[in-house]
Amino acid sequence: MSRIAYVNGAYLPMSDALVNIEDRGYQFSDGVYEGITVYKGALIDVEPHIDRLWRSLGELQIASPMERGPLKFIITEVVRRNRVKNGFVYLQITRGVARRDHPFPAMAIPALTITCKRLDIDAVEARARKGVAVSSQPDMRWDRCDVKSISLLPNILAKQAAREAGAFEAMMIDDDGLVTEGSSTNIWMVTKGGELVTRSTDDNILPGITRASVKGLCNDHQMSVTERAFTLEEALDAADLFLTSSTAGAMPIVELDGKTIADGKVGPVGLKLIDAYKAHMENQVS
Ligand code: PDD
Repeated sequence: MSRIAYVNGAYLPMSDALVNIEDRGYQFSDGVYEGITVYKGALIDVEPHIDRLWRSLGELQIASPMERGPLKFIITEVVRRNRVKNGFVYLQITRGVARRDHPFPAMAIPALTITCKRLDIDAVEARARKGVAVSSQPDMRWDRCDVKSISLLPNILAKQAAREAGAFEAMMIDDDGLVTEGSSTNIWMVTKGGELVTRSTDDNILPGITRASVKGLCNDHQMSVTERAFTLEEALDAADLFLTSSTAGAMPIVELDGKTIADGKVGPVGLKLIDAYKAHMENQVS
């Protein structure tokens, strides 16, 4: 079955799903996006994803193309038309089409596109149970990483450099030697003293929806979370290290820059959070 995309009011086969070359997303990366996991047909954490989308739009002064209700309906319809049970919905809104000129156009209709692909959740879980390798890379991004902008060049360069170093993900490091986040994930560690740490969302990172959910799960399991920046050296010396994102869930890290973390096996906190996050998804299946 060919995949179906939603493009500005129409559900189209991928081969016909085209946008205007004067769309400001194409010309300037002038737009925002969201990515939502589909698990057993359920849209995981859909409300906080839409909240974050609304916030990103507001920060860039792009009008939302529709209300939340119709948007959720269309997302669900794209999932249904693609017959996806486990997968990932990608949703992008740009400022729309206008003759190329840097300032915001006086008249432009925001452009909305939605696609959906399958995701092998069992393979993600298998990868998590083994743990992944990450590679530190300089964080070359702008000062508004809280906005989920489609302008991702520094992120893809970091991810590519990590992949070329044989790692699954990049761990981005700022000019002060502090870990910011992954190229498409948030980063967490447990110190040898047992402190569970992740960088604060006030501190120029993307406020991950999975990060927020995992923080809630930690609270449910009486594991207190400290929100502070930490150095690459602390990460190398961690008892447990893991990343979070919609597509990865809670994914333990067992190797950083070629060095083994702790004993090289997924630690107890990582294992607990893999299970807790799976239960969190399961609870949203109707
Ligand atoms: N990435 N940090 C960055 C820079 C991200 O791009 C993402 C998400 C995250 C995790 O956010 P969440 O838990 O809401 O997925 C953190 C998505 C998955 C992507 O770009 O495909």
